[in-house]
Amino acid sequence: MKRLLVSLLLAMPMMVNAGSVKSPNGNVELTFSVNPDGRPVYEMTYKGKAVVKPSFLGLELAKDKHASLGLQEHDLMAGFKIEKEETSTFDETWKPVWGETATIRNHYNELAVTLSQQWLERMPSTPEGRRLAPRQHNRQIIIRFRIYDDGIGFRYEFPQQQDLNYFLIKEERSEFAMAGDHTAWWLPGDYDTQEQETQQCKLSEIRNRMKEAVNWGNSSVAVFSETGVQTSLQMKSDDGLYINIHEAACADYATMHLELVDAQTKALTTKLGGGSNAYTPNPAPSEWPVPKPFTFVSHLTPDATGLKGAMQTPCETPWRTVMVSDDARDMLSSNLILNLNEPCALDDVSWIHPTKYCGVWWEMIVGRGSWHYTNDYPSIKLDQIDWQKVKPNGTHKANNENVKRYIDFAAKNGLNEVLVEGWNVGWEDWANMWKRDVFDFVTPYPDFDIKMLNDYAHSKGVKLLMHHETSSSSQNYERHIKEAYELMNKYGYDAVKTGYVGDIIPRGDHHYSQSMNNHYLYVVKEAAKHHIMVNAHEATRPTGLCRTYPNLVGNESARGTEYEAFGGSRPDHTCILPFTRLQGGPMDYTPGIFVTKLSEWSNNTSWARITIAGSLALYLTMYSPLQMAADLPENYEKFDDAFQFIRDVACDWDESIYLEAEPADYITVARKAKGTDHWFVGGKCDENGHTATIKLDFLDKGRTYDCTIYADAKDAHYETNPQAYTITKKVVKAGQTLKLKEAPGGGFAISLFAK
Ligand code: NOJ
Ligand code: CA
Repeated sequence: MKRLLVSLLLAMPMMVNAGSVKSPNGNVELTFSVNPDGRPVYEMTYKGKAVVKPSFLGLELAKDKHASLGLQEHDLMAGFKIEKEETSTFDETWKPVWGETATIRNHYNELAVTLSQQWLERMPSTPEGRRLAPRQHNRQIIIRFRIYDDGIGFRYEFPQQQDLNYFLIKEERSEFAMAGDHTAWWLPGDYDTQEQETQQCKLSEIRNRMKEAVNWGNSSVAVFSETGVQTSLQMKSDDGLYINIHEAACADYATMHLELVDAQTKALTTKLGGGSNAYTPNPAPSEWPVPKPFTFVSHLTPDATGLKGAMQTPCETPWRTVMVSDDARDMLSSNLILNLNEPCALDDVSWIHPTKYCGVWWEMIVGRGSWHYTNDYPSIKLDQIDWQKVKPNGTHKANNENVKRYIDFAAKNGLNEVLVEGWNVGWEDWANMWKRDVFDFVTPYPDFDIKMLNDYAHSKGVKLLMHHETSSSSQNYERHIKEAYELMNKYGYDAVKTGYVGDIIPRGDHHYSQSMNNHYLYVVKEAAKHHIMVNAHEATRPTGLCRTYPNLVGNESARGTEYEAFGGSRPDHTCILPFTRLQGGPMDYTPGIFVTKLSEWSNNTSWARITIAGSLALYLTMYSPLQMAADLPENYEKFDDAFQFIRDVACDWDESIYLEAEPADYITVARKAKGTDHWFVGGKCDENGHTATIKLDFLDKGRTYDCTIYADAKDAHYETNPQAYTITKKVVKAGQTLKLKEAPGGGFAISLFAK
């Protein structure tokens, strides 16, 4: 069933004013032209202010040894003429399967420009020395712009035609010329990891900050330029514009990075050939001119051959998105990226559900237990071990007794599922061994009774949540996926957490290449056939594909809570992620750490930079239909009154209202639980603390609400006093205002149950 609520498609022609189209409310304006060399140029304004100054669009194509077989290699960069400009307007309201709001309006004006390109190809002489007449080529592409009140999207479309059939992308050259030296919240552009701390600095300072910004310790790192950054990239101009560049609907295409041109840039990076763990020199600089400083140029993730894409028409690129507003809250409430994705492709979505879960996980991440079962084998060959005869190490946590403990905890506290990692054989030598056959995804360790545990869970109304770490051996996962999902169906699992730790196998490929993006989507589609929800860790950053495939309920694709056990993340980290990583879809951040000083229960000296009230806030500020209660059952039992909020909080919403927001400083949001009259409010702040003002005017007039406020105590502090919180109960009604003080690294959470 397609979840289309109201469909008001008006494909009306509109007046084109010199290739310029405004958004429905007129705030955003897009202008398109072709310069004297035939290069496509666009620019964008917001309330008359420049957002993107005139910027070129185009793609460089690669030569290939198979050129004689009909691959086209003439660049799609210049020599274009405008054939046709078509404008239309679209207004539709659709209903997501899960989300921050019950309905989403998709309202834009569109400009579709058909460009034609003609060139003469000199033909080689025949073996007899006869000269052949040059061949005339003629082809067309479409650049489609959608102009929304909060930004634009554009993409390249390649209709099938004689002169554009198969082609290889050397690089996409979409430019985004910024109007000034904006402040940026950025991650280093990296083909293999997104698990860095966000940097905050002026565009002109990115180059100097790059080395310290790279997460050199990650299990797979491939940075490509001293000014290369990732999307979603959040910026703020000196005159108060919030600008965000990202992409939507990235399918059968490589993930985009952005290379910043600064005063020192001599040539853009063109990386051809193989993986690398350091900056690469510039082996083949592009022959196209370097744009002006403060211009970002698209930089796609290469595959093992160094190429950026192998295309067959008809096809199109993902949408390139530029969101803009003078109010930071609009960055968080924007649906531009979801709207640019295709409607739901699944007919039956009844099996997809929002999920709260706990798991046999944190104790291993922190180091008090192991995924692997034995210490006696330096390496494992899956088909050569009799696991019944292997000596157990005594630290394996996915054992029957421990898993039952988590199932009991979930059942008692209304959590839907229990993740169990380390249940399947192969963890003895799972990471970074360049090993293809690392897991088979069907054989449990001897101390994990898969039937008994699932039966036990089901008898208590709980499900087990499957774990498939692939160790980035995507080839191996695809070989086993059918049996793996059949096993899940057999025992009643309906969700899988996948993982891609380490360098990609097939070797030389990268996590965000076209081929790997195809792999992740293949997994989601195969899972849908088996009615399985997917939560993919280390996979490419989301671009709103969860609208089309709503069984993609989560991704990690950023630095999650696990880093609190690996040295910690800055307290402002979770005040940035909603502006950046969350733009493309929900994150399995795995919040809920109550005992933040890990040495209180383990040998790990790392600690989480958050207060308990701040941890509760994340269930609201970090929107996801999949929310973990990540800490240990025994840690929650010590703070059962605070845990009540996790028991109560919803993870699917009819309404969401961002009340306050500033990137890296604070976020306050109110959400109405799906199908109820109950509201929840959360506020999270950075290391400086914050006082939130919450006007309760979103509540129903004339109604009263039982309000419980979980707040930082007066002396709470993420470092020195993280467990100091207060719980206040009162009855409130619409029109009242709450003022709440958030401690450094803290926050608050409120439940409002309609009486
Ligand atoms: C990294 C994931 O992010 C983490 O959650 C998981 O426990 C490990 N990989 C092992 O698969
Ligand atoms: Ca991870």
